[in-house]
Amino acid sequence: MASRYNEVYRYSLENPERFWGKAAEQITWYKPPDRVLDITHPPFYRWFPGGVLNTCYNVLDRHVEQGRGNQPALIYDSPVTATQQIYTYQDLLDLVARCAYGLSRMGVVKGDRVVIYMPMVPEAVIAMLACARIGAVHSVVFGGFASPELATRINDAKPRLVISASCGIEITRIIPYKSLLDRAIEQSAAKPEHCIIVQRPELRASLVEGRDRDWSALMNGGRAPCVPVAATDPLYILYTSGTTGVPKGVVRDNGGHLVALHWSMKNIYGVDPGEVFWAASDVGWVVGHSYIVYAPLSAGCTTILYEGKSVGTPDPGAFWRVIAEHKVSVLFTAPTAFRAIKREDPQGDFIRKYDLSRFRTLFLAGERCDPDTLLWAQELLGVPVIDHWWQTETGWAIGGNAAGLGMLPVKPGSCTKPMPGYDVRVLDDTGSDVSPGTIGSIVVRLPLPPGNLVTLWNNDRDFVRTYLEIYPGYYLTGDAGYIDGEGYLWIMSRTDDIINTAGYRLSTGAMEEILASHPNVAECAVTGVADEVKGEVPLGFIVLKAGVTRERDQIIGELIRMVRDRIGPIASFKVAIIVKRLPKTRSGKILRGTMKKIADGEPYHVPATIDDPVILDEIRESLRAIGYPKK
Ligand code: COA
Ligand code: AMP
Repeated sequence: MASRYNEVYRYSLENPERFWGKAAEQITWYKPPDRVLDITHPPFYRWFPGGVLNTCYNVLDRHVEQGRGNQPALIYDSPVTATQQIYTYQDLLDLVARCAYGLSRMGVVKGDRVVIYMPMVPEAVIAMLACARIGAVHSVVFGGFASPELATRINDAKPRLVISASCGIEITRIIPYKSLLDRAIEQSAAKPEHCIIVQRPELRASLVEGRDRDWSALMNGGRAPCVPVAATDPLYILYTSGTTGVPKGVVRDNGGHLVALHWSMKNIYGVDPGEVFWAASDVGWVVGHSYIVYAPLSAGCTTILYEGKSVGTPDPGAFWRVIAEHKVSVLFTAPTAFRAIKREDPQGDFIRKYDLSRFRTLFLAGERCDPDTLLWAQELLGVPVIDHWWQTETGWAIGGNAAGLGMLPVKPGSCTKPMPGYDVRVLDDTGSDVSPGTIGSIVVRLPLPPGNLVTLWNNDRDFVRTYLEIYPGYYLTGDAGYIDGEGYLWIMSRTDDIINTAGYRLSTGAMEEILASHPNVAECAVTGVADEVKGEVPLGFIVLKAGVTRERDQIIGELIRMVRDRIGPIASFKVAIIVKRLPKTRSGKILRGTMKKIADGEPYHVPATIDDPVILDEIRESLRAIGYPKK
């Protein structure tokens, strides 16, 4: 079909209130908004002020009322526990209403925070929706984070309750979540009143008398009705890496979020009610929030909750099995998942074993998508592969290729068109628009469309300082790139210390803070270096204090352990080298970019301002000794 993208995009920017007002008609409101957009307190904009709704009602109750009660809402597919379970909309509503009742009985009221620290089990989704049902604000913390990261989030969100599970399962390894939670609560100044624990058969956790309750006890009472909330009330907080060790609590509202996500299902993903949509991510990430839980359920689709990996599960064709067995129309995952599959099955032999006839489109996001992977997937799957670009902050795609509006030609390599609602610009250091093809800082003109962050939790000041102050009138994405002559946006790199490892967003600054706290370390730097599967992994450069004579391998082992224990295994911090000095400019700026280029085997130029060029040769030799560059 001819694409309607240009016309819709233009209309969305010229008439944002009419555009989003129309989209809001698809949502059930207890009281319609007084207006579409409140611009009276810039740079704080509010969508749908005066509107009253309930997100849980919109994603569950209304589908049951409209006759979808017997349709599967959620399919739990867990190869790691050999379990599959189908929950219809009626089943899910019943469980969520029971959970909401249990939470209310434990004193949770509208506006209270509930931290959810869970593996990929249905109870995680039930808990999220139960919070939404009673107007409580959930904050899901990804299970791969270690206790100190969880403690920081508990301290900031100050939850009344924490909901967790006895364990997670990483392919065959059992991860004892409950002991990580206990340690986090010990470390945190804010203490939740209660913890609710899902006891998994693989590992039962001991409960703290008086504080901890079993999940099953929570589900024993009645069913709670939906609590009406303002469109502008917070639905959730999701913490994401900032440029320091302190995570930022992204706040999402109820009304704008639901309107935007609902709109995106048909228009960006091209999905109709009743179809099966699979986001192979984790509920702990924004992709999981938006596209495992809220968007597909809002659209009346069937969503899949998959507890496993793209590879390393008992079945190397795991992804294709899930698509075939559950008749998935659209899959959304990170390029890293496909790089891992490509490495195990380069000829696509396992793809051919399954009936993928219902499969229509593959969407990739979360990190830079290399053209090889995109083209490999496109050729072997025989479906369009769409890269789309977004962030925890935005909640849905800033750039993509809107399948529902008619696809435009695909240009492989993290290249997208701005999505309706986003006025994307590329600016230079002075704040002027650059010419097509010139790299600059990617920003979005305010107001951001609905669904984007409205502030940082309890921290309006950092919200403004981090995102809005640098280019007044614009939201700073933190990504650099350019717009080409055909209006495609190319995402090239970050402008800060963030790296993307297996689709996970990590701050190298946070890792440096940890390494610097080791008693033998004088100085350190961490850069992301290329990795065949994970895209990028962190690599540490360590300078020891004078007089340290301990075994170097032992020190490196301790440093690796420290990052794992403080951030978590997902940091994938596994390599560090000890160097005599760090390369710096005469003004003291560490040349992290140059070290990265040496490790990646890319050409680099020696800056005229470097204080000691010889150190670069020494670093190259040290890296060569441990196998870098890899290519
Ligand atoms: N709980 C506890 N530990 C976890 C975890 C969780 N929820 N998730 C990951 N980890 C651990 C892993 O076990 C691994 O530990 P290890 O160092 O002891 O081996 C470490 O964190 C790194 O995990 P990961 O980066 O996922 O590497 P992997 O080798 O286990 O798997 C892929 C690599 C590519 C197969 C896997 O990342 C994948 O399937 N990704 C899909 C894409 C995705 O989910 N992206 C998220 C954003 S959309
Ligand atoms: P997160 O908040 O974890 O979703 O990470 C957001 C960051 O991931 C973005 O700011 C980008 O740096 C990167 N990212 C996400 N999607 C893409 C993409 N399609 N291409 C390139 N980078 C991406």
